[in-house]
Amino acid sequence: MNKVETIHHDVKNYYGEVLQGSEDLKTSACCPIDAMPEFLKPYLANIHDEVIARFYGCGSPIPFALEGKTVLDLGCGTGRDCYVAAQLVGDDGHVIGVDMTEAQLQVAQQTLPWHQQQLNLKNRIDFRHGYIEDLDSVNIADNSIDVVISNCVINLSANKENVFREIFRVLKPGGELYFSDVFADRRLEQHLKEDPVMLGECLGGALYSEDFRRMLAKLGVADIRSTAKSRITLDDSELAEKAGHIGFYSVTVRAFKLPLEDRCEDYGQVATYNGGIKHSPNRFMLDDHHLFGKHRPMLVCGNTADMLQKTRYSEYFTVTERTQHFGLFDCAPEDAADGSAVPCC
Ligand SMILES: C[S@@+](CC[C@H](N)C(=O)[O-])C[C@H]1O[C@@H](n2cnc3c(N)ncnc32)[C@H](O)[C@@H]1O
Repeated sequence: MNKVETIHHDVKNYYGEVLQGSEDLKTSACCPIDAMPEFLKPYLANIHDEVIARFYGCGSPIPFALEGKTVLDLGCGTGRDCYVAAQLVGDDGHVIGVDMTEAQLQVAQQTLPWHQQQLNLKNRIDFRHGYIEDLDSVNIADNSIDVVISNCVINLSANKENVFREIFRVLKPGGELYFSDVFADRRLEQHLKEDPVMLGECLGGALYSEDFRRMLAKLGVADIRSTAKSRITLDDSELAEKAGHIGFYSVTVRAFKLPLEDRCEDYGQVATYNGGIKHSPNRFMLDDHHLFGKHRPMLVCGNTADMLQKTRYSEYFTVTERTQHFGLFDCAPEDAADGSAVPCC
């Protein structure tokens, strides 16, 4: 077996054979340590117990405004997030889940008729067996997906660059990648990367956050935003000793298929949230430093303006046109003299 095959084999074995349920995990890395957002709880309550019992995610990568959209869940496991998303996309939307581990996918497939009947999902959802490094092999066409989600999976890939290349191939222009995963505050030594338990527990393959930024920049994705971040606790003493001083974090990230700039530039633009997003009528959080209150104008950089104006969020925002260039965007400017706009970062 080559290195990639060995990792696929170890990961399939961990999720298909070693783990029988969420309680078998040795750390909080693959558990829902980010509190599930309130708006998702009623949808989660509708999901089959067997699916929930084998949930191994590390966040809640379900963004707003999914009605009528096509959503792709990479490494869907037993399908928890697919079943939540399927309730949100409605009759005009579609959800595709991809996973390589038969035992995981089997639970998703076997409970599909139950979910279809209970939730009237019709043919909104389908699960495909395959590798997230090669989405062509599971028939995902170029520019066909509105939103890619993933929950604690990409860290497990032996070829993360291929995964991200595939994501930005299949996303439509203006489409969104919204995923939760484990990141490290430094590069890991080789023996930790190869340790099957460190790998299976979503630690060994954790990307150093700066290398993640570089990888996406290389693929033409110049501006990535984070919406949630929490430190992972290593309760297992053996794992904690192996990890030493490395800090591991569960982070939820969003990135768009847009030609953005590598720095925030100031074009004098103002963005206003007009309300209307289901489950978030009064405010919208783009990332950890942009919280838009309904009807409150905010000065934004060119990249943020594009994220709101050239994506599915555009129908909920008014964004002024670029006038002229004023240099780098000042992330902590004085309040606008006439008080009409407030700075946002
Ligand atoms: C930590 S579990 C998370 C599962 C699911 N997202 C959840 O939240 O319960 C990781 C999942 O990713 C799948 N996986 C890992 N690497 C993969 C790859 N290269 N291609 C497809 N699936 C993969 C595993 O089979 C496993 O089901």
